[in-house]
Formats: sequence, C-alpha cells, structure tokens
Amino acid sequence: MYRPLLVCLSIFCSLTMAVHGHALIQNPDARNQQSLNGDWHIIVDPYENGFYNHRYEEKPNGYFKDAKMQHPSDLIEYNFSASPTLRVPGDWNSQKESLFFYEGTIWYRKAFESKKQNGKRYILYFDAVNYEAIVYLNGEKLGRHEGGFTAFQFDATKALKKGMNTLVVKVNNRRERDFIPTVNTDWWNYGGITRPVRLLEVPQDYLADYTVKLQNDKIAFHAVSSSQKKNQTIRLHIPELGINEKYSTDGEGKVTAILKAKPELWTPENPKRYSLTVSLNGEKIKDNIGFRDIAIRNGDILLNGKPVFLKGISIHEEAPTREGRAWTEEDARTTLTWAKELGCNFIRLAHYPHNEAMLKVADEMGLLVWSEIPVYWTVLFEREDVYAKAEQQLEEMIERDKNRASIILWSVANETPNHQVRLAFLKKLVKKARQLDNSRLITAAMDTQTDNGGSKIIDDPLAGEVDVIGVNSYCGWYGGTPQSCASLHWLSPYNKPVIISEFGGGALKGLHGEVNERWTEEYQAAVYEHNLTMISKMDFVRGTTPWILKDFRSPRRPLPVIQDYWNRKGVLSEKGERKLAWKILHDFYENLTSSE
Ligand code: GCU
Repeated sequence: MYRPLLVCLSIFCSLTMAVHGHALIQNPDARNQQSLNGDWHIIVDPYENGFYNHRYEEKPNGYFKDAKMQHPSDLIEYNFSASPTLRVPGDWNSQKESLFFYEGTIWYRKAFESKKQNGKRYILYFDAVNYEAIVYLNGEKLGRHEGGFTAFQFDATKALKKGMNTLVVKVNNRRERDFIPTVNTDWWNYGGITRPVRLLEVPQDYLADYTVKLQNDKIAFHAVSSSQKKNQTIRLHIPELGINEKYSTDGEGKVTAILKAKPELWTPENPKRYSLTVSLNGEKIKDNIGFRDIAIRNGDILLNGKPVFLKGISIHEEAPTREGRAWTEEDARTTLTWAKELGCNFIRLAHYPHNEAMLKVADEMGLLVWSEIPVYWTVLFEREDVYAKAEQQLEEMIERDKNRASIILWSVANETPNHQVRLAFLKKLVKKARQLDNSRLITAAMDTQTDNGGSKIIDDPLAGEVDVIGVNSYCGWYGGTPQSCASLHWLSPYNKPVIISEFGGGALKGLHGEVNERWTEEYQAAVYEHNLTMISKMDFVRGTTPWILKDFRSPRRPLPVIQDYWNRKGVLSEKGERKLAWKILHDFYENLTSSE
C-alpha cells in the first residue's frame, strides 16, 4: 500500500518541530526536568525483528507500541516487562558479558509517570545515544537521530500523557560505511543510551538559546525565544558585574546586545567564572560562564593577549575507575584531576564530543580544551549526505558547548587521507565552523609528514585552511627507534601555531625490560623522552597532546597477555596506575612551567 499522505505528514511534522522548537535547547541542566535515568527494559534484536515485522504504524503490536495481550488468543511475540534491564545512562558492552562485542539493535523501554501541566511545553532531551536512535512515546514516533556523541531533543508535548507513559527507543550501533565515524576506528564501539535522558518542562515560549561571551573587551549577549515572537522580555543578570538588563525580542524572537564590562578574565591559573541568570516567561536559567579571549598572531596562540604553550594530553571518553563510557561529573573530576596532576593546562577530547560534564568541570578546574567531531580516517568524503552528517554533528557540538570558556579549538577531522575530495569536504566544514562560532580557533589533526632529505615537512594542504595545525607523529613507535626521534628535524612552511596532537607508544603496566624491548614501560618512556626532545627543538610548536592519558578499549588491539583488546598507549594503565612515561611527561611540563 503506497502511503503518500503519511510520508508528507511525517515530513511536515518534522519541519514544524524544527521550526517551532529550537534545534537544541541551551543548558538543559538548568531547566525544570524529570530524570528518566535508571533501569530500562530491553530486547536485544540482532535481526531487526522489531523493525521489519512490527514497525509499520498500522501493525497493532509493533515493539514501539509496547503492546500487551488483551485476549488469550492474541499473538504478541515480545514482552518488555518480562525482559532483562540495562542501566541508563550506560553503554551495553560493559553491563553484560554477552553484549561485550554486540553491534546491532537493542530496543529500550521506560514506563514513567508524568504530572503533565497544561500550558507547559515538554522536551524529551537525550544527551547522547550511540549510534542511531528512533524514539517513540506512547506508540507515536517522535523522530530519529544519527550520531553517537551529540545531544538531541524532540518536542513531546503532544504525545505526552498525564499519568503513565511508555517511552520506547530503538538503538542501533552497527557501524556503516556512510556514517560519521565510518566502519574503522581505534576505539570501542560502545552502544546504547550512553548519557542521561530527561524530560524538560519549559514555558510554552521558552528561552531556546543564549550566548554570553567576551567580544572586543565587551560582553556580547545573544538570546532566542522558541516562539520567535517579538516584544518578549528577556533578562540578563550578572550580579558580580552589576549587570541587570532587560531586552525586548525582535521580529524573530531574538535579542542581541553588547554590554560594557571589565570581567576578570578566565585562565587555567585563575578559572574565574561568573554566576549569571537569563530569564524569559518566568523561567530563570542559571549558568556559570568564564570570559576569555583566544587568538593567533605570528605563529603564537594568545590567551587574553598573552602567548601560551599548551601542555596537554589526549583523552578518550572512558570511565576512569570502571569499564565503559564515562558520563558522570565524578568521572569528569577524576579524569581531569589526573590531567592536572600531570601538569596539564590543556586536554584534547578525542575523537568526538565528550559528555557535557567534562566541559563544565574543565571550565571549573581551568583546563583549555580541543573538542572534535569524529570525521576520522576514511569517511566517504565524496558523499553530500555524509558531509551533511558531519556538519550536523559539528553544529550539535558547537550549539551545546559554545558558552564553555575552556574550549579554545574546534577540530574538524583526525588523520584523514590527503586528497582533493577530502580537502573540499573539510574546507566546507572549516567554513561552517567559522560561521557557527567566530570566537574560537579551528584545527584538525593530520598525519602529514613528508620526508625531505632527513627533514619532516608539514605539507598537507589542509594546514593552509585551519588556524592551528595538528600533527600526529609516531616516531619511535610506527617507524624509527625511539632514540632516532631526538635528532628528527621538522620544517613548517606555514606561519601558524602547530600542536603535536599525537605521539606515544604502548606499554603494559608492570612489564619491565630493556629500553629496546617493545611493550615495556622502559620502551614507552624512551619514546616520550626522545619525542619531547624533538618537540623542544621545533620552534613553531605551541603545544602537544601526547597519545594518551589512559589505556582504552579497542577492537583493533587483540594481542593476548599484552593488549587483550586494550590500546596500551596510556601513560596510565586502565586502572589509573602511572607508568614510567608519566614522570617523563610530568617533568617536561614542570620544567616548561618553571621557565615560563
Ligand atoms: C592514530 C589515531 C588514534 C589511534 C592511535 C594509535 O593516530 O589518531 O585514534 O588510537 O593512532 O595508533 O594508537
């Protein structure tokens, strides 16, 4: 049966939601909300049974309907209430041994009570689901989201009932060639509802978005009402700066204002944040925002006008003290405390946007951040629809985190093959990033290193497109001996800051031996020692984020006894134990600090 009406309806429906609701509500933590975290019933569905045999809206007992037997003769071949549960948030791989390697669909169901009020709007907000989510509330499809590391929302006002509700989410983490990232990555494909789920309760016309930032020594304030109606009153209150202003929205529901103020500037040494409130229609949104400026000049990175050297470390989003994806504030505090103990003022959040707690804690602790979308290795650069996915994830990353002082760099790619189609794809992405946020620097990690008579030259044309050049170089691990790195000579034809965004080597914590023996802590320490010597001789380098803080899970690292599906390049073991290389890096940063 051909259903033109239904197709048109669903297109119209998604457009109206996008038009009426803002793409992503700003600062969900600060909203009235009902948490939907906890135990959800699940059905593991590797053959897509729930989708093909029960999906069609006219079929009475699709999984999404959470149908119950009404008569003894009813045929319903599933039962969420009798099914096992998974904790939400949380990847499924680390919760059940049987799901450690699982890639496919799992259906989740949460029954919850709502005290729905008339005149309020209800937004169902997912902090992240990896990789694809299709969301049904009380049997009604709210929509679909693709992308494992960025937040998304649906307006649930119409479908939500007062009393009991049934929320069903189809989650599929199967890797596909035309996804972002594509099928090959050096990290674990943790599937599931990996970050919090909440039902936000906001006014009918709510404060959809706001930006508060330092701009030419003044404070720039932008805000948008969800209804995009004019003459709505939006207030900005920053008590410590004596700011208490009210504004009337324009014909698009927007407010744009520039305020004179001399805030104390945010720095890693003094991460000063200002408590502020933005309000509309009785909703008061509290936030803590730091004011700082980041720029480049003559090859330097300037923080608040002063050159800064970025003493960094790369970090994957894995829990510091348990298996699986990190997502809690405590996870963020532990991980970022480890970075601080190492002597860092900078972190590279690889290779995808991390959970929001990481950015809010980085703001609080004073760590500068490189944030990145997973345009990783060999995505399908020739496909327009794949570009659209990358751009969507870029937008969702910037929308969520644009008020975080800690973030100074948006990265559009990691180690992508150097060819024309890729360059065109990434030039478009860089341009989009600048349009979305002209207050931060744009970068990408490249494995460009062409030998030129004993020197390494940075000659990837992408370097000409970004503000700061990221270079991944594995001298002493994927080529050469550790000792050979110290005398490596590098050339850069660009008058731009360079960050060595990856170097390192693997070691099994507790394995000791000769310095030329792979997988020993001594070998890894030698890789660090000689690469740091190399870096200190590269006069255009303005920072480094060695690979990586902690050992992390990877399906590409099966070596028994040594790796056992762990990538062992951490300076910390998976239990947080320091390896010999940790002290090499710590002392290097400590000496840099004392010479600053
Ligand atoms: C690459 C890549 C990382 C990977 C690392 C490694 O540079 O960017 O994601 O984990 O090398 O080989 O360990």
